Amino acid sequence: MSTRVGGALRDIARGTQDLVFRHTFQELFVYNILFEDSEVDEQVLALDEQSDVLAISGAGCGVAAMISRAPRSIDAIDLNGHHLALAALKVEAPRRLQRYGAFYDLLGRGWHREPRPVLAQITAALPAWIRAHWRDRGEHFRRGLYGEGLTATMLRSFRRVAGLDEAWLRWAATLDADGRSRAVESSLGPLLRAPLARAWLSSPGQLVALGINFSQRERLLETEHERDMADYIVSYLKRLASTDVGTNWFVWYAIAGQFDHERADAVPPYLRRDRFERAREARTRTTYRRRNVLDALECAPSRSYSHYALLDAPDWLDAPTQKVLLEGVLRTARDGARIVTRTVEDECMVSRAGLSTRIRRLDALSARATAADRTRQYKHVHVYEVQA
Ligand SMILES: C[S@@+](CC[C@H](N)C(=O)[O-])C[C@H]1O[C@@H](n2cnc3c(N)ncnc32)[C@H](O)[C@@H]1O
Repeated sequence: MSTRVGGALRDIARGTQDLVFRHTFQELFVYNILFEDSEVDEQVLALDEQSDVLAISGAGCGVAAMISRAPRSIDAIDLNGHHLALAALKVEAPRRLQRYGAFYDLLGRGWHREPRPVLAQITAALPAWIRAHWRDRGEHFRRGLYGEGLTATMLRSFRRVAGLDEAWLRWAATLDADGRSRAVESSLGPLLRAPLARAWLSSPGQLVALGINFSQRERLLETEHERDMADYIVSYLKRLASTDVGTNWFVWYAIAGQFDHERADAVPPYLRRDRFERAREARTRTTYRRRNVLDALECAPSRSYSHYALLDAPDWLDAPTQKVLLEGVLRTARDGARIVTRTVEDECMVSRAGLSTRIRRLDALSARATAADRTRQYKHVHVYEVQA
C-alpha cells in the first residue's frame, strides 16, 4: 500500500473514532469544573459592558467568571447538555441567591442537604430543558457535586490506589518545587507506568474521562514526545507539582477531591466574594444552547461578537474543520474581536489555515497567558485579534 493511501486510511479511521468519541462524550456528565485557568482568561479577554461573547462553556467556571465583568451578552454553547446545564447554574446562582454563604456552600463546597427547592429557585427563569435537568439531579448536591461525573470518579479511584489525600498534599506543599516533582516521580511514576495502568490510561473510556479525543491525543503525544498517556500523565503531574500548589485549585481538586475552603484565592474566581457581589449587579443577557460551535457560528449574524472563548475545542477538530471554524469567526466578528483558545500542540491553527493576516496572534500576551495557566495541561494559550 502506498504511503499516501495508508495516510488517507489512517485519517478516515481517526475521523470515525473522533465521531464515536463525540457522540459518547456529549451524552455523559464528565466534568464538574473547567480545567482551564479562568483567572488568566479574565485578564486576557478584558471584557466590559460593550462586550458580546460567544463561549463554549465546558463545566462553566469561565462563563460564570465573565458575568462579574457585566458584558452586554454571553451566548454560552456546548455539545454536552450536562456541562451546559451546570454552567447555567454557576452563572445564575449569584443573581438568585441573596447570601454569599449559601452560594458558596452550594457551588464551592458542592453540597446541600435539601437541594431541590434551591435548584428550582436558581433555574426558575432558565429554559425548560435546564429546569428539567436540575429537577432530576438534586442527588449530585446531596452526595457532593465534586465527587460526581466521570473525571471525579476516575480521580477518586486514582487517589485510593495511590494513597493520596489532603494530608499528602499539605505535606507536599512543605517541599520546594523540585522536591514535589521528585515526590511525584517516586510515588506515582511506578504506579502509573505499570503495564495494567498503562493499558487503562490509554483506553477509550479513560480518554472520555480526560476529555481528550483521538486527534488531540495524537497531537499531544507528538508534541510532548511521549510514548503513551501514562508517560504523558507523569510529566504532566510533575509540571503541576512545580506550581504554587497552595493556590492551585486544580491540584487541590485532583488530590484532596475538593477546594481549599480556607483560602479565598485558592478557588476559581467565580466563587470569590467580590465576583459574587459584582455578578449580582450584572445585567448581562445570557443564552444557553446545546449545539456545535460550527452551527452556532453559521446561524449568527455578521459582526455579532467582540469575544470568543473556544476552550481547547479546536484541538478536537481536523485541520480543514478548524479552517471552517475560523472562517465562521471571521464572518461573525467585529473588528478587533478577541479570541482565546488552548492547544496541546506547537503548530498554530490560524497559520495552518493561512489566515494569519486576518487573525493576528498577540504573541506577548499569549506567552504570558501560557506561563500563567495553572492547569499546566496545554502547550499554549493563544490570544488572537481579528484585524480590521
Ligand atoms: C473540548 S472539552 C475538553 C476539556 C476542556 N479544556 C475543559 O476543561 O472543559 C471542553 C468542552 O467543549 C465541548 N465541545 C467540544 N467540541 C465542541 C464543539 N465543536 N462545539 C461545542 N462544544 C464543544 C465539550 O462538550 C466539553 O464540554
